[in-house]
Amino acid sequence: MKQRVTKAIFPVAGLGTRFLPATKSIPKEIMTLVDRPLIQYAIDEARAAGISEFIFVTSRGKSALEDYFDRAPQLEAELRRKGKKDLLEALRTTEMVSGAIAYIRQQRPRGLGHAVWCARRLVGNEPFAVILPDDVIAADKPCLQQMVEAHAETGGNLIAAMDVPPQATGAYGIIDPGDAVGRLVPVTGMVEKPDPAVAPSTLAVVGRYILTPDVLRNLNRIKTGAGGEIQLTDAISADIAEGARTHALRFEGQRYDCGSKAGFLEATVAFGLARPDLGPDFARFLDSLPRHGAAAE
Ligand code: UTP
Repeated sequence: MKQRVTKAIFPVAGLGTRFLPATKSIPKEIMTLVDRPLIQYAIDEARAAGISEFIFVTSRGKSALEDYFDRAPQLEAELRRKGKKDLLEALRTTEMVSGAIAYIRQQRPRGLGHAVWCARRLVGNEPFAVILPDDVIAADKPCLQQMVEAHAETGGNLIAAMDVPPQATGAYGIIDPGDAVGRLVPVTGMVEKPDPAVAPSTLAVVGRYILTPDVLRNLNRIKTGAGGEIQLTDAISADIAEGARTHALRFEGQRYDCGSKAGFLEATVAFGLARPDLGPDFARFLDSLPRHGAAAE
């Protein structure tokens, strides 16, 4: 019988250098899209998919993240005294059941694969999800939920994927695909950030995975890969080479790369426009802006 996926790892130990100087003191995952930090979108998506154990791989300087998911008794008392029911309700989404959330430290940023490996003892011998909070995905059915449903059919490893322009392969893990059946694509191999000339396809890995514990075992022995980091892609590739069943899911939804400045701005505009309380005025404001960089002249 296929095991249910109940645990998710959130690797949040990266340096976030693309957002310096902001990330000198603010964890990237706490940066806000409209009024919620990136990590809140990731947690909501995991909850919707039935995840009940949340494992954060953090690093020095990320204590704001831990505080975010803690109770704030003084603030709550003040809001209650003032009768601010809507704000109390907004805080409720940040509450986690005691014991549902665990924090593990990655002492040095040695790569995504290493960050996932740091959580190995908490994962144990069952399939687990990995969510990168800087990949924000807007979808009618949350991406991880689509994946959990697909995984109930496929088992093995399942990776979220999307098609990218040919010239962009060097920025992604790229999949060597078999014959697709609907949105599911068998994966016969993966390459981290290949040059377009040698990329096996234009199907790119996005920051959502459901993995078997064998991938953790592979992480024990793989060496540093692209960029001098321990790559999760390499550990999955090793698993595929050993015959592990692995699929990619072309999920339904729009992915925003909030790890980059351009992607974060795009997400801010899209999420702002989608908000019923802000969207109409915001759209009017955007329409009123001078076009094609005239504002900068
Ligand atoms: P990125 O490649 O975006 O790196 O990591 P980064 O450090 O966050 O950001 P830049 O490139 O310096 O701007 C992808 C995900 O993997 C995590 C990050 O926190 C992010 O969620 N990560 C990366 C770790 O947890 N540990 C690492 O050693 C590297």
